[in-house]
Amino acid sequence: MVAARITVNGKETPIAPAAAHTTVLDFLRDRGLTGTKEGCAEGECGACSVLVARPGVNKPTDWVAVNACLVPALALDGQEVITSEGLATVDESGAATALHPVQEEMAVRGGSQCGYCTPGFICSMASEYYRPDRCAHGDTAHDAASDADADAEDGPNGFDLHALSGNLCRCTGYRPIRDAAFAVGSPAEDDVLAQRREQAPPEAAATEYTRDDSAFLRPGTLAETVRLLRERPGAVVVAGSTDWGVEVNIRSRRADCVIAVDRLPELRELRVESDHIEIGAAQTLTEIERRLDGSVPLLAELFPQFASRLIRNSATLGGNLGTGSPIGDSPPVLLALEASLLLAGPDGEREVPLAEYFTGYRQSVRRPGELIRAVRVPLPLSPVTAFHKIAKRRFDDISSVAVAFALDIEDGIVRKARIGLGGVAATPIRALTTEAALEGRAWTAETVEAAARILRAEGTPMDDHRASALYRSAMLGQSLNKLYAQTTEAVSS
Ligand code: FES
Ligand code: FES
Repeated sequence: MVAARITVNGKETPIAPAAAHTTVLDFLRDRGLTGTKEGCAEGECGACSVLVARPGVNKPTDWVAVNACLVPALALDGQEVITSEGLATVDESGAATALHPVQEEMAVRGGSQCGYCTPGFICSMASEYYRPDRCAHGDTAHDAASDADADAEDGPNGFDLHALSGNLCRCTGYRPIRDAAFAVGSPAEDDVLAQRREQAPPEAAATEYTRDDSAFLRPGTLAETVRLLRERPGAVVVAGSTDWGVEVNIRSRRADCVIAVDRLPELRELRVESDHIEIGAAQTLTEIERRLDGSVPLLAELFPQFASRLIRNSATLGGNLGTGSPIGDSPPVLLALEASLLLAGPDGEREVPLAEYFTGYRQSVRRPGELIRAVRVPLPLSPVTAFHKIAKRRFDDISSVAVAFALDIEDGIVRKARIGLGGVAATPIRALTTEAALEGRAWTAETVEAAARILRAEGTPMDDHRASALYRSAMLGQSLNKLYAQTTEAVSS
């Protein structure tokens, strides 16, 4: 087996010596690449953002920005990484001769003061710069403020400002950073990183690394993974490592064995069949968002509210469901969509409705040795849907309460209602009593008001630092009223 290594800014760099839990951030900084900064070490600030060559959605390879503080270095064995140092043009001696266009715009538009956040912004910005379907309106930089097409979140150059939602700046202020983002043009024809998108990304390397009694393993197949899980029941399974990385950095947790499943082919499919959509558990949220392209409106509404783009570039549905958190954002939506999980284990595969999956706080029916292989969403979809996430910030926050609705309303009558709730019980739940109170009734203000009273009493909400139980209950009722206000016009027309 080839020794674990990462190609960093075009140069093969051995990962060893490193512990199994060493992050990409520490790996880079230990090798002198100190442009990559540590701010929070928990995926909140983006100071550690770097680019990774990943399987692309519209081209063979995408340059994807990820939080280097969360990803174990060994998870990138055999992969290609670009840091802020690797974006500028350099001469044969390695000296920078020209800034990257993104760096240039940040510099000339005053997007950097102390500079601590800047390399992270640059990498997130470069990822969006190279997004193949970013619809540039021209090849030259121009003044965003004078372009009538510009709005608060989309630039005239097609730059989606959500690409920077995971990057924090404490001193510059965001306007000059936004100006820089909205001013970048399209990559030149001889741009090496733009050309790199046309070739396939590196294959996932089969990794088997042990040091100090802890191991990092990347099996090549699902069958091998299931066998390993049976042999090592205490192993931690990671895909994007957005949850495990926080445990390692903030709570100093260590595992005897970490098993990476993010590149398993069996977990990487996304198929649309006549009666269902099957989403591989290791598809990242960004990949699902771009591949489904709005065809499941409830998921399309969920994604922008699910953490930041940096997190969505690594996080997976399998991970969000596998941790069993009662405040995960995807379970309420998937409950409303009546999704089921395909669990692969030593005895083969079984399908479990998500409504029967959670059994208690961070507990589920998943047996030792089982792995979530895919999520299945039945078709056709209910036409009236909404996802209401109540949190202190509009984006990139943890929900106090989350409510997802999927309703069939025909001739003014609610034929079917499915409501998923998060943050009001030890597990995500369906609002079954409210669903029954809506079904068969006219979709009127009176029905909604009566059902909203019932919805306020669903679950067993608690007081905690995010919200009081009373507030959570009140928000449940408000959510149904809001849905009524949102949909009345559409239903009656
Ligand atoms: Fe803050 Fe990584 S250091 S997101
Ligand atoms: Fe100082 Fe952003 S320039 S934190």
